[in-house]
Amino acid sequence: MKALILSGGTGTRLRPITHTSAKQLVPIANKPILFYGIEAVVAAGITEIGIITGETGPEVRAAVGDGSRFGASVTYIPQEAPLGLAHAVLIARDFLGEDRFVMYLGDNLIRDGITEFVDEFRRLQPDAEILLARVPEPQRFGVAELEDGRVVRLVEKPPVPRSDLALVGVYLFSPAVFHAIERIEPSARGELEITDAIQRMIDDGARVVPHVITGWWKDTGRLEDMLEANRIILDTLAPRVEGLLGEDVRLEGKVVIQTGAQLRNCLVRGPAIIGSGTLIEQSYVGPFTSIYHDCTIRRSEIEHSIVLEGSVIDGVDGKIESSLIGKGCTVRSSPERPRAYRLMLGDQSRVELR
Ligand code: DAU
Repeated sequence: MKALILSGGTGTRLRPITHTSAKQLVPIANKPILFYGIEAVVAAGITEIGIITGETGPEVRAAVGDGSRFGASVTYIPQEAPLGLAHAVLIARDFLGEDRFVMYLGDNLIRDGITEFVDEFRRLQPDAEILLARVPEPQRFGVAELEDGRVVRLVEKPPVPRSDLALVGVYLFSPAVFHAIERIEPSARGELEITDAIQRMIDDGARVVPHVITGWWKDTGRLEDMLEANRIILDTLAPRVEGLLGEDVRLEGKVVIQTGAQLRNCLVRGPAIIGSGTLIEQSYVGPFTSIYHDCTIRRSEIEHSIVLEGSVIDGVDGKIESSLIGKGCTVRSSPERPRAYRLMLGDQSRVELR
């Protein structure tokens, strides 16, 4: 079997972070989301991986490389524009050949991996297998209707969903999917929808097996989803200290201090992770926080947040919480008068002041 991982798209719901970076590379517990997907695919015994890339292709390539560090071989498949999930499958046809494959959306996180589903697909040999999960807001997803355990209808983001079963971003296909994709039209949002292609397979009488999952799964499209994913994954980490702890440092609960991090005069209350080369001084880092590499947190308090590489938080009066801070950002108090908020924010930034 092969794997097709989708890492293109535009990430509109995560702007301004995605104006400059791939959403699939935002770190969850200090590891890019995309890496969890690659690791899950490799753990399921699949090592030939195609990665669909868009505008952020160079960044994705630089992060993933040839795949050898994951024990896989990666082929990059550039997509000229985000023309839909089924379009991505179509342009991967040469790479996929006549093999059965798993398609994994690069912004999805499944805590327990995909080995169980890949094994089931190998055993049952259906034309396709889809994963479904019960969700509170099905209108944000592709929605499935089942009858007697069989899939009868799939609708992409219906305004009035007929069930609470959302399509999870992991699909297993035989090459029969190509024939279905060739016969669908772009949707109202201008995309070739994989949901429509699977519906076409069902209408053709193909065997499409549903699997309702019960473990934790997240589509990390929005800030609150990222923070939730970060909470869940941080909680699974085993505490370890590889960095340097200076004077008066207290670590409470599950805390990971990565190589080359330095802490002085601070309290870190887990679950939390501090990245390599990061300095934490005279500060409080609270539960569910990930500080990535080469950051500086000084005379500040932060919790339930994700801070990307190279950012500085210095002398901030009042606790920062539920925040996603991009790469190389500075948040600091200023001695200059008048005492005021001075902001330089990228397009579509969000600031909530006390
Ligand atoms: O996460 C599950 C949902 O994923 C399903 O319930 C929906 O049925 C399915 O359509 C999809 O919906 P999204 O609106 O969340 O898809 P999104 O546009 O976010 O794309 C998912 C991933 O695929 C993301 O990592 C970007 C990438 N992508 C997307 C498109 C449209 C591509 O690489 N190329 C594309 O053309």
